[in-house]
Amino acid sequence: DTATLGLYGLGTMGSALALNILDNGFALHVSNRSSDAVPLFVEEAGADGLADKLTGSDSLDAMVNAMPAPRAIILMVPSGKPVDATIQTLILLLAKGDTIIDAGNSDFRDTIRRTKDIEQQGLTFIGMGVSGGEDGARHGPSIMVGGSPAAWNAVREVIEAIAAKFNGEPCADHLGPDGAGHFVKTVHNGIEYADMQLIAEVYGLMRYGRGQSPGDIGAVFDRWNKGALESYLVEITAKVLQATDSETDQPAVDVILDAAGQKGTGRWTAIEAIRMGQSANVIEAAVAARAWSSEGAARTVGADIYDTPRGELALSDVDLESALLVGRIVSYAQGFRILTAASDEFDWSIDSARAAEVWRAGCIIRSALLDDIASAFRSDLPEGQLIFADHFVVLIRDALPALRRVVSGATAAGHAVPALASALGFLDTLRTARGTTDLIQAQRDFFGRHGFVRLDGRKDQHGPWWD
Ligand code: 6PG
Repeated sequence: DTATLGLYGLGTMGSALALNILDNGFALHVSNRSSDAVPLFVEEAGADGLADKLTGSDSLDAMVNAMPAPRAIILMVPSGKPVDATIQTLILLLAKGDTIIDAGNSDFRDTIRRTKDIEQQGLTFIGMGVSGGEDGARHGPSIMVGGSPAAWNAVREVIEAIAAKFNGEPCADHLGPDGAGHFVKTVHNGIEYADMQLIAEVYGLMRYGRGQSPGDIGAVFDRWNKGALESYLVEITAKVLQATDSETDQPAVDVILDAAGQKGTGRWTAIEAIRMGQSANVIEAAVAARAWSSEGAARTVGADIYDTPRGELALSDVDLESALLVGRIVSYAQGFRILTAASDEFDWSIDSARAAEVWRAGCIIRSALLDDIASAFRSDLPEGQLIFADHFVVLIRDALPALRRVVSGATAAGHAVPALASALGFLDTLRTARGTTDLIQAQRDFFGRHGFVRLDGRKDQHGPWWD
């Protein structure tokens, strides 16, 4: 077989995806920036019995020359400059009708720009979000494709084959033009940040408020993973908490510095939300928590100056489980709101139900909720808000008192729960038909003559302070 499909970038994710492609019977040609990775990969694939349809080259140039047209080349290189540099070289080598697929965590604005530049040259470009970490890439990731319908047709067969399956259906789809796929991945990561933060807060309450050991808490998460909270993140949390550090014999989580890294994709969701005049406050809280976590020195000073211990908590497992469930529903709901708003702004026509379906398996935020979320988006949603879907109204109504007990108990005892508190603040705001921004409008008018709308509908009105 002479491969018309190529993959450039044999890092952890690139190698895993390449093995997945070979495993599905496709011929593949690989290459890498530093060429020593190529024979190593060929050897690795051989050991797995997957080298029959594998060929390799030690440069982009040689790779393109070895492949008959029309070619499709998947880029698995770090997002940002390396992607641009690789594309620049590729454009000169490829011919009309060839396709470039960027499968990294690229900024959707870069993807929009690259689509324009590349397609002007008669080539086809796909910006593709891939989720699921190394294991997902190897055995079936969730794949969010952005590009033209023609571009999708060119790669559909292989993408659907390598994707995770949910009830036999591939967790991959063409979700819209140019930046749509990478934007859906961005929102995925925003939700990922929020869910991780909510889980970490609940863990913190059990650990520092109820005095439980990581192992015991892990067992609780294990149990929760068999119920409404069933999900990949809850599953791995249980495993992480029950793991022991071999050097010290302590719980593994206890030897890790509490400063969270972030490559930025989750943050982009919060940035886009705010830029569009919207809010995804649970996701924002999660981004903020990671930022504050990195200011360890300040937190040490703060712990000294405001030295009030975190108090004991008498919260039940059931309350914590319910609070986490509502928090999770709200973070999905906020992610989908941002998805819809951006889709409207950029004319992507993203089908939220399809995005939810693509996330049902393979990705980091896969959870039992997603099938119900997809169904909710197929029905008539009041105000387009997931939290008003019948199925979720029942869940939220039932669990809201628990979230309230958890947030009030935690805050009264001095535990930081910014994401849980944000979820509660959001729900309380959205069930307040008449809020207090009448006062803000009055203040704006007072100091800046900004005007306000009267309740009778008259616009551009001013208050008596201007009489
Ligand atoms: C996924 C992950 C993946 C990666 C993120 C983590 O869906 O498989 O989201 O893309 O783990 O880059 O992002 P941070 O480094 O920002 O936590």
